[in-house]
Order: sequence, then structure tokens, then C-alpha cells
Amino acid sequence: MEAKVIPYKDESKGKKEQVAAMFDKIASSYDFLNHLLSFGIDIIWRKKAVKMLKEDKPKMILDVATGTGDFAIQSMSLNPDKIFGIDISKEMIKIGVSKIKKKGLDGIISLAEGDAEDIKFDDETFDAITIGFGVRNFENVEKGLGSMYRVLKNGGKLVVLEFSKPKLFPFKQIYHAYFFGLLPFVGKMFSDDDSAYTYLPESVKRFPDGKDFTDLLVNQGFGEIQCKSLFFGIATIYVGKK
Ligand SMILES: C[S@@+](CC[C@H](N)C(=O)[O-])C[C@H]1O[C@@H](n2cnc3c(N)ncnc32)[C@H](O)[C@@H]1O
Repeated sequence: MEAKVIPYKDESKGKKEQVAAMFDKIASSYDFLNHLLSFGIDIIWRKKAVKMLKEDKPKMILDVATGTGDFAIQSMSLNPDKIFGIDISKEMIKIGVSKIKKKGLDGIISLAEGDAEDIKFDDETFDAITIGFGVRNFENVEKGLGSMYRVLKNGGKLVVLEFSKPKLFPFKQIYHAYFFGLLPFVGKMFSDDDSAYTYLPESVKRFPDGKDFTDLLVNQGFGEIQCKSLFFGIATIYVGKK
């Protein structure tokens, strides 16, 4: 893998600390900008990702890098007994917790601070694990995937929703102009952080997608891999089974 993409290039702190600080900074505008910059498509993508678990009827779910909890909230459609969400950004979690409370879902969904690379749950606790737009931000992707594998029950599934890179003309060109041109510009205008929406396209560009990512899943022990490309390859849902 290439050298790490970090949000604040001039700082001496590691990627994890920088990512947590960046999401703490943009937390208050995250939901608004997410839906604006994706034209609401992120909501449809999370729905599709959660559908991949429909037949499994998971009762214990972990949403890793839960942020403001949108993936966890979407997973309520699976009728689980319990959903735990973990994230390294205190501010993202704060917003998630109040959103979940407002929706009256706090009996089922619990969010807490937690690192994907060192998950504080026992081995084989969860029937399913979800992670939306989070894995690309890990300091050590292999460690994160390995940690998720450990806390999954045998037969349990990991569903990863992540940005990928469209390969075909003209989507590749349109995507490039939007992601590297308009998106950082609008992001800067509405968020409290100048780097966050430059980091986003850079981190996507340098993150393994398609077979490169499924190879990482296989290396951590996942099998029966599925890979579903969304919207001409702008995002991909990956599923791996323990
Ligand atoms: C783009 S947001 C995605 C939030 C949410 N999953 C969604 O679908 O909107 C990425 C989140 O990953 C979190 N994150 C990054 N590295 C992490 C790690 N090692 N452990 C837990 N969360 C992490 C960030 O703090 C941030 O809230």
C-alpha cells in the first residue's frame, strides 16, 4: 500500500489522531454536507448495504466508525435486539446519540467511543458488522479488518460500504471533476475545516478498491466475498463471511 493519506499534512500527529480531530471539527455540519454533496444518494447506498443482511436476520449488530449513527439507524430495518456503534470521534458520537434519542431508538442503539483497530468486545459477539465510509480512514486497515473478524460470530457477515473509483468514460471524468473540483470547494464553504473535503477525494484515490480490497478481506480470513458496485463504481458494497 502507498504512503498514508492524512488530513493535516503539516502536523506531526498520527493518522488516527488527525482523523478523530477532523471529524470532531466537522461533526456539526457532517449530516447536512453528506446529504448535500451526495445529492442524498448516501441514504440509498446505506439502505442497499443493510439489505445485504436481510436474510441473515442478525440480532446483535456492531456498526464500526458509526459517526452520527446513520448506518446503525438504517439497520433498525433488520429488527435486531441490539446495535452497538463505535467511533473515535467524540463529537460525531454526541450528535449521533442525540439523533437516536430523538427518534426513540436509544433502547436498541447504543453509541460509544471506540477504536475499530482495538474493539473492546469479546470474541464472536456479533451476528453482523457494518461499516460505512469508515475503513478508508483507518490508520491500519488490516488491523481494523482483523479486529472486526475477531468479534464476529462464525457464520456472521461483515458489510463494508466504501467509496471506490469509476473506471469507465465518461463517469470517471465527471467523477474526477466533481470530487476534486466542486466537492472540496463546497465542503470548505460549509464546514469548519479547510482540509476535510480535500482529504476526502485524496483518501478515496489512494484507497484499494475492487479486487485490491477483497484481497485484504480474504487475507484477514473472510470468505464468500461479494462485491456490489454502486452508481457506476462511485461506491462499492463488500460483504465477507466468517
Ligand atoms: C465518513 S464518517 C462515516 C460515518 C458513518 N458511518 C456514515 O455512514 O455516515 C467516518 C467515521 O470513521 C471514524 N473513524 C475513523 N477511524 C476510525 C477508527 N479507527 N475507529 C473507529 N472509528 C473511526 C471517524 O471518526 C468518522 O466518524
